[in-house]
Amino acid sequence: MKESDIVKAARLISQSKRICAFTGAGISAESGIPPFRGEGGLWNKYDPVILEIGYFITHPAESWEAVRTIFYDFFHQVKPNPAHDVLARWEASGILSAVITQNIDSLHTQAGSKKVYEFHGNSDRLVCIDCHKNFKSNTISLETLPPLCPVCYGILKPDFVFFGEGIPPAAYQHSTHVASDCDLMMIIGTSGEVAPANHIPHIAKRSGALIIEINREPSQYTGTITDLYLEGKAGELLPLIDELINSNYYT
Ligand code: APR
Ligand code: ZN
Repeated sequence: MKESDIVKAARLISQSKRICAFTGAGISAESGIPPFRGEGGLWNKYDPVILEIGYFITHPAESWEAVRTIFYDFFHQVKPNPAHDVLARWEASGILSAVITQNIDSLHTQAGSKKVYEFHGNSDRLVCIDCHKNFKSNTISLETLPPLCPVCYGILKPDFVFFGEGIPPAAYQHSTHVASDCDLMMIIGTSGEVAPANHIPHIAKRSGALIIEINREPSQYTGTITDLYLEGKAGELLPLIDELINSNYYT
């Protein structure tokens, strides 16, 4: 990547009016959360079947064992990193209109972002597969698995989207609306391999938005719909762009 590409990114961001971000596991990598694919990815270690809804229903204890280790044993210890912080500051100062995220780790919200559309839900809640009531995950013991509903003793499932489940309708509607209405989309840390989430940047592109992408390695978008590709770590590149914007050094 040329240094001038960072300057170009700062200039494009400064010139745009409705910017949104579309984020994936890579933006949380520098907070210590492993991504799913690529180097150190979870799917090198676990079988993705554990996150299939059909498997969960038939093997809740096995699925939960892995889910607890991956998503619940240490999520409460992780903190937002400089990439989350920059996006939150950009929203506060009016540069960014919203974040659409595939992540379920709440780190955008913890960093202070307000308009966050969680395409795959969130790990903060558990939902009963029988009576559909939901509960804050930190109020439910995960010592014995699967955890059971305090109301009807049905099996509790993390209230995030498993493979084979639908996207939460409100998140879907907001995300498609924001994508079709933006003039610049920042794609950050996603491989673009999982549908239907991976359609979101295509909606922005079709509506005429510019696409800036930050990733450690080329994704499905690089060389296809990405207009400006910045290769590197989100937690390093976003603060650099932010500095340029703050110092007006991009002309
Ligand atoms: N900075 C920027 N990009 C990074 C960094 C980093 N520090 N570290 C890793 N990446 C990139 C990787 O190169 C990869 O392209 O982040 C991307 C992570 O891709 P995935 O692991 O496939 O994550 P994501 O795209 O969010 O996955 C989508 O898959 O399993 C499902 O539901 C799960 O929401 C998830 C969906
Ligand atoms: Zn119940």
